[in-house]
Amino acid sequence: MKIRRFSMRDYQEVRRLWEECGLEIRPGDAREEVRRKVSRDGELFLVAEEKGTIVGTAMGAWDGRRGRIYHPGVHPSRQREGVATGLVSEIEERMTRKGVLKVNAIVFEDNAASLGFFKELGYIADKKSVLHGKLLTRRGDGESF
Ligand SMILES: CC(C)(COP(=O)(O)OP(=O)(O)OC[C@H]1O[C@@H](n2cnc3c(N)ncnc32)[C@H](O)[C@@H]1OP(=O)(O)O)[C@@H](O)C(=O)NCCC(=O)NCCS
Repeated sequence: MKIRRFSMRDYQEVRRLWEECGLEIRPGDAREEVRRKVSRDGELFLVAEEKGTIVGTAMGAWDGRRGRIYHPGVHPSRQREGVATGLVSEIEERMTRKGVLKVNAIVFEDNAASLGFFKELGYIADKKSVLHGKLLTRRGDGESF
């Protein structure tokens, strides 16, 4: 299995994968929004590919203060094989090389797989904080974290 950087040529396949593994598609996942993200720090958006098929993906981001992991997703037929661990570990390494001190991930409290996954990777839930968000533009519909 090869871990490599996402390319916009992968967009349709990755979007289908997000849907197949049950990730909620947000306005920020639209093609043009993803293009903007890739032009900013595309080296943190990775896919896991096997025999020409993308089996997993995870999107890292760095705002200059904190790192963030978005959308770890692995095809249901390939879960519990270490695919997401490989992807997130590579993002963490890339962030470390950039000088990122801390990385956060949003985990929904009803997502047992995600809770178990991030806990296993050493992410600690901050019980005192509640995520707040505000939509600033009208490029998409609804909320977008
Ligand atoms: C969460 C997800 C990305 C994990 O991907 P994965 O490739 O299966 O994860 P890994 O194989 O690297 O798992 C590493 C460890 O995380 C923990 N873990 C992974 N899936 C788990 C689950 N369903 N329940 C509990 N713990 C889990 C385990 O400790 C696992 O190690 P083990 O298999 O030796 O017990 C995957 O379940 C997925 O795509 N879920 C649907 C999409 C989603 O909800 N993404 C999260 C959005 S924040």
